[in-house]
Amino acid sequence: MTQDSSPTIESVLQEQRQFDPPPELAAAARIGSMAAYDALMAQAQADPDGFWGEAARRELDWFEPFDTVLDWSNPPFARWFEGGTTNLSYNCLDRHLEGPRADKTALIWEGEPGDVRRFTYRELHAEVCRAANALKALGVGKGDLVALYMPMVPEAAIAMLACARIGAPHSVVFGGFSAEALRDRLNDGQVKLVITADGGFRKDKAVSLKPAVDQALSEGCPSVEHVLVVRRTGEATGFEAGRDLWWHELVDGQSADCPAVPMASEDRLFVLYTSGSTGKPKGVVHTTAGYNLWAHLTFQWIFDIREDDIHWCTADVGWITGHSYIVYGPLSNGATTLMYEGAPRPAKPGAFWEVIEKHRVTIFYTAPTAIRAFMKSGREVPDRYDMSSLRILGTVGEPINPEAWMWYRDVIGGDRCPVVDTWWQTETGGVMISPLPGATPTKPGSATLPLPGIVADVVDLEGNSVPTGQGGYLAVRRPWPGMMRTVHGDPDRFRRSYWEHIRPADGSYLYFAGDGARRDADGYFWVMGRVDDVINVSGHRLGTMEIESALVSHPSVAEAAVVGRPDDLKGEGIVAFVTLDVGVDGDAALEAELRRHVGLEIGPIARPDIIRFTDSLPKTRSGKIMRRILRSLAAGQEVSGDTSTLEDRSVLDQLRV
Ligand code: WT7
Repeated sequence: MTQDSSPTIESVLQEQRQFDPPPELAAAARIGSMAAYDALMAQAQADPDGFWGEAARRELDWFEPFDTVLDWSNPPFARWFEGGTTNLSYNCLDRHLEGPRADKTALIWEGEPGDVRRFTYRELHAEVCRAANALKALGVGKGDLVALYMPMVPEAAIAMLACARIGAPHSVVFGGFSAEALRDRLNDGQVKLVITADGGFRKDKAVSLKPAVDQALSEGCPSVEHVLVVRRTGEATGFEAGRDLWWHELVDGQSADCPAVPMASEDRLFVLYTSGSTGKPKGVVHTTAGYNLWAHLTFQWIFDIREDDIHWCTADVGWITGHSYIVYGPLSNGATTLMYEGAPRPAKPGAFWEVIEKHRVTIFYTAPTAIRAFMKSGREVPDRYDMSSLRILGTVGEPINPEAWMWYRDVIGGDRCPVVDTWWQTETGGVMISPLPGATPTKPGSATLPLPGIVADVVDLEGNSVPTGQGGYLAVRRPWPGMMRTVHGDPDRFRRSYWEHIRPADGSYLYFAGDGARRDADGYFWVMGRVDDVINVSGHRLGTMEIESALVSHPSVAEAAVVGRPDDLKGEGIVAFVTLDVGVDGDAALEAELRRHVGLEIGPIARPDIIRFTDSLPKTRSGKIMRRILRSLAAGQEVSGDTSTLEDRSVLDQLRV
């Protein structure tokens, strides 16, 4: 968090509309009234260990029962369900094979060209076992890190489940990241095996992936022994004998029997990198039992899952949303999950609605940025499709403006489906604040209330709750099973990033989420966005420092400061203020070159929308860049507030965007 970010956040939202759950949905729901919600909250409050322990025994299968529920004796390092052994892949597959669910569809996959594959639980189990045996054949065992750099194909989910099955933690790297970003993540994790594909389809074009892996490895990733390649696009790709293997050649011939390895509750399940306000992305570590329980419970509660639901989450498996709500949450519950390779595109603006109509999707979970794009192209597109199968709509990734929320409810949900606005983070493992569709009255733009067992609050820097209506920091007061356990290889950074911003006088630990929020008179949370140097572009989280480092790594750049500015479609756009080396001209060609450079260093999503060349940046006398000023300038606002610490006021005139 920067020193000059404002300590309170004033919200301009004055939303009065409210929508009750549909009575038929409430009547059949798992949690069907606010009284039922309040009772769960009270139970969790009175006896947290009893509440979580009972849930873990009821919802998960265990090889060995656990002895303790929560060990918080060494905060902020939590240990959940110690003494127990379980396996996420077992809970997602094997335990569904005994009854009628064995032949139920577990996964429906649709490729962008329209090819469809379906797997029953029995079939998915067999595929996962084959893949797990293939990993073993490559010498991968318990504790070895496996990276996935994949398009949205079934093999991505199969590989994740295969890793979990043999206790090899996975590290999924979003396929949109560059070779450089991939290499950093491979080296940080000391990855032994990379699973990738020749490419995938995006906007009616084959987009290659394997060359980025080749490039990352050619620049030095000594820990990587093998690359397992799924054939998806059929394009020619380089192959290094001895190192690279085709998935179909290695996996298809394996035995479909591979027992799930009993894993200790706190054994590492996966690492997933996310951007923070300083330095390189952090490897967020999640562990076996707590993550499984939280993905399972939240999925069940928030989507009020029923046996015949078809659940579709449009995220990529490269993000936590894909981990928890395409793969693990749905499968742990024995639900049918849909995975779609494509995206709406000029040739097919109704691509999503076509998928809903064709597969009779009942639960649809997407991002506000997508909803805003749909709004822009008008309701004529969705109105052409039959979406009467839908019963619940969800959003995730950034605050949703009330207009987009209303449009989503009316146009996509036929004014019939509850909208659940789910607030959470990579670090929280699963949703933390969200309506329950059968219980919680919703208000457009509010994520409403914490889920049962979650003690969330809006606080000041001493951890005191701020008064109703006032802005403050979103924090969590008690540990929860799905919380991240540490930053891979850097426990100190874990402590510093999340547990030291808010310092209560009594020495207790509060989890600092990095978001600002306020609560209204009903206790509803209104999340206002990041209060640190993290920006949210189309629901993708980017650290301004990372983009600055990428810019400064270009030979012509002396210094760079990056801030977000409001953007109608993307939520936030990226504005970079750049000073150049003496004698270098900041022209359009250099601007294009720098944008390309950032794309290569991080990935296309990190390319600045605007690059402003300047002779100097606004700094305090101690040399600290005053980002508050840059944020105002980037948004086209007058610079207000205190500028007395600014060293040289004349720089402001140069910087207007
Ligand atoms: C950040 C976490 C968790 C899945 C996707 C992003 C923002 C997320 C909401 C929401 C307002 C939201 C926050 C948060 N965010 N959901 N419903 N309302 N803001 O995961 O990349 O870890 O980013 O996304 O700023 O801190 P992530």
